[in-house]
Amino acid sequence: MAGPEMILVETHGRVGLVRLNRPAALNALCDQLMDELGAQLLAFDADPAIGAIVLTGSEKAFAAGADIKEMRDRAYPAVFTDDFIGKRWETVLRVQKPVIAAVAGFALGGGCELAMMCDFIIAADSAKFGQPEINLGVIPGAGGTQRLTRAVGKAKAMDMVLTGRMMDAAEAERSNLVSRVVPADQLVAEAIKIADKVASLSTVATAMAKAAVNRAFETTLAEGVRAERQLFLSLFGTPDQREGMAAFAEKRKASFQR
Ligand code: CAA
Repeated sequence: MAGPEMILVETHGRVGLVRLNRPAALNALCDQLMDELGAQLLAFDADPAIGAIVLTGSEKAFAAGADIKEMRDRAYPAVFTDDFIGKRWETVLRVQKPVIAAVAGFALGGGCELAMMCDFIIAADSAKFGQPEINLGVIPGAGGTQRLTRAVGKAKAMDMVLTGRMMDAAEAERSNLVSRVVPADQLVAEAIKIADKVASLSTVATAMAKAAVNRAFETTLAEGVRAERQLFLSLFGTPDQREGMAAFAEKRKASFQR
């Protein structure tokens, strides 16, 4: 079978790197690209040699959104019965391993939404985030009105979604949309370094840590704390808990299971 055409795939030790690679369309997220991305994310998730994943684009664009030219002639009810968005876009949410978005340039519309579906976002100082769908006569459709609001609060989310304006990297960091900002020429190297640290840890603990933090977005505090407690206690049934704590007590580096 021919390999993917719209993504580039690399491994750096235990880090799996996917680069969106459709430069002529600023990585607009067409069906083919989303299928290739989804398949690769699931392949990395299933690969015991990989402990964390970095998703990035190019210097100019992480992704400029869903492919407008592909979308323009779609009509209701076909978009509903085809489960447009749901079928392809949410694969990243099924990945148990940590996924870090490394964003340079434009992350607009579905590009911003895809980045927000990752576990956290590292931005280059050149990054520009936005939900400009309102300019097209629609609204964000891959979680933008929900995840952006949870990340930056109602005032800023409403401002972005209603005006379609962009937010630069400094504002995105101030607003808690991204966890760190780094110089553009160091973005991918920094992201790999961070992912490498995560990948060196217990695979089951990092998967549970991610699941627990994600619960904070979906449920009440009491329910979330209960979920966290169950996950925390269940880790006492894993060899990695024994190894991690023994290594601390014995003043050596832990060697976690793969
Ligand atoms: N879909 C399809 N093609 C796109 C695209 C998109 N989202 N964004 C850019 N392109 C294409 C352009 O049409 C252009 O192609 P041609 O050379 O064949 O004309 C090429 O990429 C380069 O783009 P520009 O010439 O426009 O580059 P620029 O530097 O002048 O502008 C930009 C960059 C401001 C990002 C501009 O391209 C732009 O506004 N893009 C659209 C952004 C957008 O509206 N995104 C939301 C999409 S809707 C969505 O995502 C729905 C959802 O929630 C799921």
